[in-house]
Order: sequence, then structure tokens, then C-alpha cells
Amino acid sequence: LDGHFQPKPLRGMKVMITAGPTFERIDAVRGITNQSSGKMGFSLARAARDAGAEVTLIAGPVSLPTPYGVKRIDVESANDMLNAVNGSISVQDVFIGVAAVADYHPLQQFEHKLKKDANILQVDLAPNPDILANVASLPRPPFCVGFAAESQNLLDFAEQKRRKKRLPLLAANLVQTAFNSDSNELILLDDKGRHPLPKSDKLSQARLLVQHIGKMMRAEPP
Ligand code: CTP
Ligand code: CA
Repeated sequence: LDGHFQPKPLRGMKVMITAGPTFERIDAVRGITNQSSGKMGFSLARAARDAGAEVTLIAGPVSLPTPYGVKRIDVESANDMLNAVNGSISVQDVFIGVAAVADYHPLQQFEHKLKKDANILQVDLAPNPDILANVASLPRPPFCVGFAAESQNLLDFAEQKRRKKRLPLLAANLVQTAFNSDSNELILLDDKGRHPLPKSDKLSQARLLVQHIGKMMRAEPP
């Protein structure tokens, strides 16, 4: 189905999505980052827009076009991403953390390019804030959705993450399936159990995830 004719389970809702990697600067030209194309997060922005939502997309450095009608904020580091999220999190109905946020940043950042004059170069790293965990622990949090890309023990690690961050919903995927790929095979985890999605392109996976979010948000509290 063309986007325009999609069902509208998120009509009128405000949805914020983080996408892509973050880049943690070491010096003027170098930094550490995570491997992430941003395709899954951008597909979700498209799917949420087509489902009737007003979408804010907070993107780390990626080379992808902005989906039509989506408000995009470009950021570099995890700290920038957290600031952008905090800028309007209080008005959001849904928060989906798809970004591959770097867990650490260099303790020291050098203004100028380092010269290769050291035999051993040590870079001390300090932890980054956990953006999703921050949002999920707000006094009145939006409906929070996490992603977990794992290379092993997928379902155990993913369910542990969901519980630790107290998320109603988490999408798990194997790194080996998702990375450098246009398709994906998500497994959704919620309080009711596991919901594997049939393997398909990332936009189709995103539409199924959005439908699932809409269903959970409409459900009567128990
Ligand atoms: N996340 C985040 N901010 C961070 C780290 C992660 O918002 N600093 C979000 C991701 O966007 C994702 C979820 O948390 O939705 C899980 O990220 P992941 O890296 O898989 O889990 P971590 O909690 O960082 O644990 P670890 O890397 O040790 O597996
Ligand atoms: Ca991490």
C-alpha cells in the first residue's frame, strides 16, 4: 500500500524517534562511533507519519534524505541527542529509540588534529547518558519503545533490556540480519510475550511495529 492509504492508528499523536549512530569526538577529525545506517529509524519515521502521527526525527550522522513531512533534528554526540530529545519530550505521546547510541565518549576532546607521535595512544572513555532509560523514567513518560540489536542470546538479552529500562515494548533483532541490509526480521517483546514479524524490507517491518504500538496504546488498561 502507498503511504497515503495506510491505516491511521497513530492519528494526531506526537511521535519522537532517534535514529542512526552517534559520533563522539576525539579531535578535529577523529572520533568513535557505532555502525548504523539509520535506515530502520528513518523507515519508522515514514511509517509513523503514514499512520497519522506528527513525527520528530532526531538523527545522528547518516546520509539519508528526510522523509516528507517529518521534522528532523541533526545531532552528533549522545549528549547532543539527549539535549534534542529533552527539547520537546514533554509533549510527545510516543518515544521510539532506534539510534545506536555510543555508550562512551572520550573524556578529553582535542581542538586540533593529534599528531601520530605516540607509540601507544590511550583514550580514556566516560559513559554516556542512557537516553531511552532517561525518557522511560520521567514522571509521566510517553509510550516508550526500545530496540535491541544483539549478536548472540538475542531473546534473553533483549528481554533483560526491556525489564531493566521498564519498557512496554522492545523490538529485538540480530545484528547479522539487520546490518548493511535493506531487510530485517524483528521480534517484538511485550508483557504478553514474543511476536516475531515475518522477514521483510525495513519499511514493512516499521509499518507492522507501528500497528503494534497503535494496538497497545488503544488497549484498555488491565
Ligand atoms: N539507548 C539510548 N541511549 C544510550 C544507549 C542506548 O537511548 N546511551 C537506547 C537505544 O536507542 C535502544 C536501547 O537503548 O533503543 C538499547 O540499546 P543497546 O545499545 O542495545 O543497549 P544498552 O542498554 O546500551 O546495553 P548494551 O550496549 O550493554 O547491550
Ligand atoms: Ca549500547
